Amino acid sequence: MGLEVDPAFVQAAEHRPKPTISDAGEIPLIDLSPLLHHPIPSDPSDPSIPDEISSLIAAIGAACLDWGFFQVVNHGVDLKLLERVQAVAREFFALPAEEKRRVKLDEVNALGYYDTEHTKNVRDWKEVFDLVVREYESDDGSFRLRNQWPDHPPAMREACEEYIASVEKLAYKLVELIALSLNLPAKRLNGFFRDSSCFFRINHYNPCPSPNLVLGVGRHKDSGALTVLAQDEVGGLDVKRKSDGEWVRVKPIPNSYIINVGDIIQVWSNDKYESVEHRASVNTEKERFSIPFFFSPTFSTNVKPLEELVSDDKNPARYQEYNWGHYFSSRLSSNFKKLDKDNLQI
Ligand code: SIN
Ligand code: FE2
Repeated sequence: MGLEVDPAFVQAAEHRPKPTISDAGEIPLIDLSPLLHHPIPSDPSDPSIPDEISSLIAAIGAACLDWGFFQVVNHGVDLKLLERVQAVAREFFALPAEEKRRVKLDEVNALGYYDTEHTKNVRDWKEVFDLVVREYESDDGSFRLRNQWPDHPPAMREACEEYIASVEKLAYKLVELIALSLNLPAKRLNGFFRDSSCFFRINHYNPCPSPNLVLGVGRHKDSGALTVLAQDEVGGLDVKRKSDGEWVRVKPIPNSYIINVGDIIQVWSNDKYESVEHRASVNTEKERFSIPFFFSPTFSTNVKPLEELVSDDKNPARYQEYNWGHYFSSRLSSNFKKLDKDNLQI
C-alpha cells in the first residue's frame, strides 16, 4: 500500500507519535484565583505575603522546575475574547487556498498566512496565521516586521488585537510570579518587555489520514521567554516529561491556558527552569486549532543569566550573552532562504 501522505510530512520512525500516548502524570494545574483577592507582592521576602499567594508562587516554581509547563485556570482573560478569535480563525482557514495565499508571508511581508513550515526538516501538518503585536523596523531598515490582514473575515484584526491585549496582561502576571519564585523582586524581568517583540500565531491542523506518520508541529522548544497557549477541546499537544522523557498528552481543560517556559527564561535562570520539548499530534477525524502567544523581550535585549542567580564558584553562568533581535531575525531570514531549514518556532 502506498503512502497516504506526501513523504515531505513523514517523520523518521523514532519521532512518530505512538498510537497510545500516556496522559497519566498530567502537567500541573494551577488556580490563579488568589490574584483576584490579593495584589502580586513586590518583594519575595515580605513577611506579610498572604499564605494563598505564597502557595501560588511555590506551585509555579515547582511546575517550572519539574515540567517547564503548567496549565492555569481563573486567569482573568475573558472567554469571549478567545471565542471571537476562534470564530474568525475558523472563518479564515475555511477560505479557498488562493484567498488565504493573498496574505501569504514572504520575504517582504514576514507575517501572515503560511502552510509550508518545516520543523527539524520535516514538513508540519498545519497551516498558520502569524502576526506581531508591535510592528518593527530596524534602524538600518534591513529587518522589518509588518502585519498583513485578510479582507475576510473583516473582524479578524480587532478580534486578535483585543485578545492579545488581555493575554499580554496575563503574561506579565506570570512573569512576575516566576520572578518571585526565583526569589527575585516581582518586577525584576518587566523592564525587558517594555517594547516587547511578542508574536502571535493561530495554528490550524486539518485531520490527517496517517496521524501516526506525521506531526502537526514537530518536536521543538520555544525560543522566547514564555508561551501562553489556548488549545481547543480536540487535544494534541504532547509534552516531553522531564522525569522520564515520555511524551505526555495535555488534556484540554475548558477556559484554561497552557504556559511554558521558553529558552530565554532557561538562560535567565541559568538552567534552573528548562525550556521543554513539545510537539502537536493530529488525528483522522477532527480539525484542531491552537493559539499561542509568545511573550518575548525587546529586540535590543542581550540575553544572559541573571547576575543574582549565578556565582563564580558554585553556579557559574552557563550561557554567553546573545542579542535577542539578531537571533530572531537570523532565524526568520534563514527560513525564507532555505525552506527545509530547521524550525521557526519562536
Ligand atoms: C506549538 O508548540 O507550536 C503548537 C502547540 C499546539 O498546537 O498545541
Ligand atoms: Fe511551541
